[in-house]
Amino acid sequence: MPASHTLILGPLSLIALVLFYLAAGDIAENLSPQGCRMSWMSPSYVLQSKFNTSWTPLARRYSLWLYREVGWDPNQIQGTPVLFIPGNAGSSHQVRSIASSATRQFYTSPYVLAPEFASRTLKPLDFFAVEFNEDLSAFHGPTLDSQITYTSHAISYILSLYPLNTQIIVMGHSMGGIVATSLLPSSNISTIITMSTPHTLPPARFDSRIEKIYTKAQRTLASDPTPIISLCGGATDMMIPSESCILPTDTPAADDFPFRRTVFTSALEGAWTGVGHREMVWCHQVRWRVARAALELGGAGTSPTGKADILDTWLRDGHVLPPIAADSDGLTLDDPAAYKIMPEANHLVLLRHRGSRTFLLPLPRAERLVETPLKAVVFVGMGSLLGLGPRTDIPLRVSVFLCTASSGAEEVTPQCSPLKPSLLKLIPNPIPGTVFPAPNEGTDESEGAVAFEADVPVEDDDAGLKRWLGVRADDGDGLGWVVGGLSKREEVVAAPSSLSLLFRKVDVLFSDKAALRSHFVFPNIISNALIVYRYTPIRPAEDPWCSDPLLAPMISHTSHPAETHYFPANAPTDRILLHSHAPAPYVASNPPAPRGPLNFVIYSSGTLGCDMLGFSIGIDWSATLGRWASRFPATLVSWAIGVVAVTLFTAWGAEDRNIPMPSVKDSLSYYGQHTFRKLLLASFVVAFIALPVDYYIGTRGGPLFAPLAPLLLLVASGLVYVSWWVLMCLMWPIGALGSLFGRSRVRESPSVRRSTIVSMGLIFALIFLFVPWQVAYLGCWLIHLITCASSAQQIYQLGSTPTPSVTAIPLIRIAGVDGDVQEEKPEEVPNHEAQRGAVQQHRLDNHNHNMHLLLLMTWLLPLVAPVLAVWVRTLLTAGLTTPFDGDHDFLNVAPFLVLVDFASWNTNVLFERQRFERALSARWLLAVLAGTAFFVGPRRAYSVFDAAKIAVGLIVMIRVGRRYWGGAGWSVDSNDR
Ligand SMILES: *[C@@H]1O[C@H](CO)[C@@H](O)[C@H](O)[C@H]1NC(C)=O
Ligand SMILES: *[C@@H]1O[C@H](CO)[C@@H](O)[C@H](O)[C@H]1NC(C)=O
Repeated sequence: MPASHTLILGPLSLIALVLFYLAAGDIAENLSPQGCRMSWMSPSYVLQSKFNTSWTPLARRYSLWLYREVGWDPNQIQGTPVLFIPGNAGSSHQVRSIASSATRQFYTSPYVLAPEFASRTLKPLDFFAVEFNEDLSAFHGPTLDSQITYTSHAISYILSLYPLNTQIIVMGHSMGGIVATSLLPSSNISTIITMSTPHTLPPARFDSRIEKIYTKAQRTLASDPTPIISLCGGATDMMIPSESCILPTDTPAADDFPFRRTVFTSALEGAWTGVGHREMVWCHQVRWRVARAALELGGAGTSPTGKADILDTWLRDGHVLPPIAADSDGLTLDDPAAYKIMPEANHLVLLRHRGSRTFLLPLPRAERLVETPLKAVVFVGMGSLLGLGPRTDIPLRVSVFLCTASSGAEEVTPQCSPLKPSLLKLIPNPIPGTVFPAPNEGTDESEGAVAFEADVPVEDDDAGLKRWLGVRADDGDGLGWVVGGLSKREEVVAAPSSLSLLFRKVDVLFSDKAALRSHFVFPNIISNALIVYRYTPIRPAEDPWCSDPLLAPMISHTSHPAETHYFPANAPTDRILLHSHAPAPYVASNPPAPRGPLNFVIYSSGTLGCDMLGFSIGIDWSATLGRWASRFPATLVSWAIGVVAVTLFTAWGAEDRNIPMPSVKDSLSYYGQHTFRKLLLASFVVAFIALPVDYYIGTRGGPLFAPLAPLLLLVASGLVYVSWWVLMCLMWPIGALGSLFGRSRVRESPSVRRSTIVSMGLIFALIFLFVPWQVAYLGCWLIHLITCASSAQQIYQLGSTPTPSVTAIPLIRIAGVDGDVQEEKPEEVPNHEAQRGAVQQHRLDNHNHNMHLLLLMTWLLPLVAPVLAVWVRTLLTAGLTTPFDGDHDFLNVAPFLVLVDFASWNTNVLFERQRFERALSARWLLAVLAGTAFFVGPRRAYSVFDAAKIAVGLIVMIRVGRRYWGGAGWSVDSNDR
């Protein structure tokens, strides 16, 4: 039975949706777990009532507040201004965690300066916050514009309270970050810090005006000299895909590129945790650093490099080198007691070191270095290396040198010069066997070890030279430790490819079980936001040979120049999920994200093989599904509209061939049996074409992701079936109610028309003046739903409904339309019988047309619903006075209004074919709509509504035309007579 396809597709898509939902939940908990301490404060907010309507009319709608820590801050302003901008549905109160931290870092107790600030000229911070009444700014361009205008005036007002030429630090959370960057260029803004802000891809893409704001922001991001830093929560953030949080960055060619830094909290030194969207403002490990950076920025003056250094110091993720400490001068070791040559040792391990000494590790000869290039690796625990260390007052200081001495002499006097690091960062060093990061607790300030890496230079004139790696440890107090040595630059595991991982896992065994640093590169495994790999340790049968490693094996996975994630390599869970955020669908990155292979480094203090033989790499399907779930909802909606458009296109094709208009049920089952298969194949093939990242499924033709297209098509098609069933369920009670009141919807046309024109005019005026067109669209949909419900009821009541597949009743074309009247009235059929059949056929045809239209209009609803929600919200919070500019273009909804109204009283043929359509049928407009929905819609959903509006508009003009306004009206009866 043909219906079987529809019976399978619908439930299948529902099951897929449930799976996606579960997988997304799995991601939130497992991909990048959150370890954040709660923050505490005693908040109070002072309303800035002087910032009133004489500054901006928007002061009626929004407000400005000054945060004060109760008992700590005086009630007036005192230092450097900071403005916090909340995001979509956010509140000004979200400022409290960061503001409170700034106060409590500046003072140790009320009005007592902290020792760090006592000797400096820094000022405390005054945190202002704008209150947008939890407006839904992500969905509505004009709302976002109002926020930008208000905030810009707020800054002028705030600065008017301070001495001339004061600059303000601006912080934005989520969409607040877009407001912040939209304020540029401005000489009044010192620095912008954004948190969980989707900079490059609007999270809701239903409004073209949001796109305009984004386009402008892109230009600003590329050129404005104001330093901007973007903090991203990574995979834990389920509200925005974190790839859109990455700022366009420096290219090697452009030295004067303004300061843009993206810091993922998974790499943020001392935090090392994924942070959820809302948690970003209160996660203690993040908020104190943001507050501290702002405090320091207050004293930075106006020089961009000064600000950049502060941001790189306090919001460090280890991807750039810290400003190297000044004490790294050269060294001459003429006192034999001051140094110790380690004999043939591979590693230097210093435990409980006291005092100051330099340790020399011999370097291999040049020709061996050329063969296998080496890296010098040093780890320091409970101490600092070149000035970088965890925030503790432990005195141990370590520096690294390259030392040489002529090999002939008996008495050597090594000359040492500082070795420039290629990497210097803090890495987490949690207690082995514990969960990392600790849930609800996270990392402590004193945790972490310093990792130092440098390429060992090859010098060819070393015939008479001995060379060492020199590690100098100063002021050891017996607590810290140092581990140093040499390791291979990288290990290439060429064999496995992403494709082969689809079917099996790949085992990799450690070649050097005592390596300090093992860099694994899988050149054939791609790194992409849409795929998650699972690393599983392979454990030996016997017990581990080490009990208490200084640095337990730690995976450092740098998937993007701005993103690093750390995982303990022998985590108790055995499920380590290696993921990345770029490249990603629909996000064009600048510079292009490396399509680079999967690669990661495992650091350890020489105990790598202690309880692991190696690891295996495979694809983690649950997490991979979860990644898809959060990246393709807009694609699903858009493709479902495409499927509906294709269904309509085929149905109209039947009509063009003079076959009665099929019912939606028949159309859908035809789609399920024929069109779907062809589309499935086509979608798969098209997925291989390297389209720009904005189009189709956004994967630029990556072959590995081609199967995604048919999968999405399957789910989208299934959703159309489900939506149809839901509509039927909705219509049944409405139709039953309608017939209960015995209201006939078939009215005499001529008398209706005049009042129609009047009421149409009224509605248009209403939209023009007050109601957003989105509301009118919802009204259209409702009217059409009722029309369909009651006509379904009538057809059901007529009982003797001719089914379209039965061709007993010949189709009667209307004379005068295209001339080729095809009346093949069988002689033997009595005239009135044929008439009755024809009338019924018309009714049925019209009904089927209406139902198809209803399905299309239903799927267009999700595109207008967000703005509707914003409007209702704004009405509730700001009242009727609020201007809702830009949504009064009645042309957006006019085609639907006319069509829906016409369908509600028309008793004739709904759509009349025109003569010229024999060359090109109007139904091709639906094909254009489908094309837009499949290719452009996923990234720019609003364009699908535009295409639908134009298609329906043209169809109304061509096929309804004058008849609506009372032109030549034809009726079946008059024609037959
Ligand atoms: C706004 O506040 C200022 C200062 O308090 C006051 O002079 C002005 O009259 C106020 N304007 C309005 C429209 O209330
Ligand atoms: C900067 O702030 C001052 C108030 O101190 C204001 O007059 C000026 O218009 C502001 N400039 C910009 C570009 O916003």
